[in-house]
Amino acid sequence: MKKKEKKYMDTVMSFEDKADLSVNVNNDSNQIICACANLKLSDFEKTLGRMKTQSFSALLRETSAGSTCTACLLDLEYFFVEAKSRNPKHFNSDDKTNNLKQLGVIPTKQHIYKILDSITPPIAWAPTNFIPIIKGDNIETWLTITNHDLLFRERKSAPITSSIEIRATDGSFLFKDKIKIDLGEELKLRLDTYLKLESQPLVVGAAYINTYAKFPAMRGTIRPQFEILAEAGACALHAQGDVGPGDTWFTIQNKPLDQRIFLILLNTFHKPQSAKISWPFELYNSSIKTKNVESLQISSRGTEIFEINCGDALTARLEDRPFSVKISTERSCRVYLLCGTPQLDRFSIDHR
Ligand code: FES
Repeated sequence: MKKKEKKYMDTVMSFEDKADLSVNVNNDSNQIICACANLKLSDFEKTLGRMKTQSFSALLRETSAGSTCTACLLDLEYFFVEAKSRNPKHFNSDDKTNNLKQLGVIPTKQHIYKILDSITPPIAWAPTNFIPIIKGDNIETWLTITNHDLLFRERKSAPITSSIEIRATDGSFLFKDKIKIDLGEELKLRLDTYLKLESQPLVVGAAYINTYAKFPAMRGTIRPQFEILAEAGACALHAQGDVGPGDTWFTIQNKPLDQRIFLILLNTFHKPQSAKISWPFELYNSSIKTKNVESLQISSRGTEIFEINCGDALTARLEDRPFSVKISTERSCRVYLLCGTPQLDRFSIDHR
């Protein structure tokens, strides 16, 4: 096992002892490469071969692949590039209809970018990912970053360095470090231990993660993932970038006997901002007017948690019909929806 960061010895693991899950992508033209569209690799390539405009997006349109659950998109992109590089004559890469230069419409700005691109080295870059950290009695939040080649022997990723910052509810710094993760290694880091349980039942903070590859390569599996572990169960989600300013919507059900609904707002902006939370917006004709509007102040780089509480009267009128919640932010932000059991011993989390 190769490890360069001694202090993370117990958190960075190698895949050596795990089963070899690699698959060879070259030899089965009958394999289904998009289950939703029931599309075989051979049909994908045949369609590509007869298309005049051989762009990836045009191929997806033509085959209807990759547009339902989207789970296959990265693989389809691989098969597309691989088919074109294997047989460049058949799979013509000069798409005349998309060639802006031939059409004489390249704007000046693009000329400048082209010149800059030709004199600067390519740099692998990924935007910041933001993870909510949840701390409570017997609740843990873990970060996982896995550097693996996505199960394909032919595709290679690069060693990466992840820079991780942990911030408290008020946005103050709690932890910062850079951790190298070689190809085939996995980082597991418990995040909630950096927060203090200053109020009940939950305290929140955030992890800011920037990942840099040593050289340009396939992205592989390096997107940060996080898990929330509680006494009766666990949930996991991939990290998100920020959005906004603007509105974020979630559709939920009010079932106070079964679940508690929280919104977690990460202010990714370097100044404080306020957010407005309004509900219920109903999905059907009804006489209930939107009546709950709450304002939250979030400090610079801070994180806030807000519980949606409908109260008895609204609960009686809503029954268990779904409704929407709108979160309006002034600045860049990332909002997560956290759903817990009444005892907060099991969670699920999602994003928009
Ligand atoms: S598997 Fe391709 S869209 Fe679902």
